[in-house]
Amino acid sequence: MADIEIRNLHASVDGKEILRGVNLEVSAGEVHALMGPNGSGKSTLANVIMGHPAYEVTEGSITFLGEDITEASPDERSRAGVFMAFQYPVSVPGVTVTKFLRSVMNAHREARGEEAISLKEFRQTVEAAMELTKVPKEFSSRYLNEGFSGGEKKRMEILQLALQQPRLAVLDETDSGLDIDALQTVAEGVNAVAGEQGDKMGILIITHYQRILSLVKPTHVHVLYKGRIVKEGGPEIVTQLEAKGYGWIEEEVGASA
Ligand SMILES: Nc1ncnc2c1ncn2[C@@H]1O[C@H](COP(=O)(O)OP(=O)(O)O)[C@@H](O)[C@H]1O
Ligand SMILES: [Mg+2]
Repeated sequence: MADIEIRNLHASVDGKEILRGVNLEVSAGEVHALMGPNGSGKSTLANVIMGHPAYEVTEGSITFLGEDITEASPDERSRAGVFMAFQYPVSVPGVTVTKFLRSVMNAHREARGEEAISLKEFRQTVEAAMELTKVPKEFSSRYLNEGFSGGEKKRMEILQLALQQPRLAVLDETDSGLDIDALQTVAEGVNAVAGEQGDKMGILIITHYQRILSLVKPTHVHVLYKGRIVKEGGPEIVTQLEAKGYGWIEEEVGASA
């Protein structure tokens, strides 16, 4: 049984069906890339996996570690070990990075029946994670995402990933809006966390472009088109998309989709 099993998933927003029967399985130790043209439903799938209330699941199911989480709250999913890095991270004025990270960490510890983390242990853990993901130390005292550049926000997401050590990490367009240096840093951060977590974490990396996939190498590739996965395979699909673009997918499945 895979860690996450998505079966015949249909989801709507404002009564409009966006996902039209998605099947997807991801397990720890695997890196899955979900690709697809703009508007194909990639972020919708990420949001539905995370339990965003704006999206209604009308058919199908999501099972995580053997439990049906189709109706679970985002908080329950997070505590169960699903992590999501957002395409557009929000700013939290007045809350420092340190304070935010500590409250998230303590919420997870509480869920596991553990005591709140001591200040000393927290400092050590965060410092190690910052080093691993190359987040500068002075970030700790800044307000979360306030005035952060696109690249800095994405790096913060990867820092949270390193701290949370989820079973499944969903990274939605972690590469969007990044210049090549920022992309490199973020990709290195993802790889560093993946290397440290090894077979304990699965990754679902969502992207329109193939460039991050030359840095974070997928083991499985899925192409979403008009709310359905229309092509699946290994990394060779990334190369094919690079050469032929999405028009190729459209031509192949367009008539039936
Ligand atoms: N919260 C929302 N409200 C209204 N429409 C939405 C919402 N989220 C997604 N959609 C619509 O669903 C479709 C798929 O969007 P999205 O999942 O963001 O695609 P992608 O991430 O592949 O670009 C688009 O037509 C988009 O306008
Ligand atoms: Mg998107």
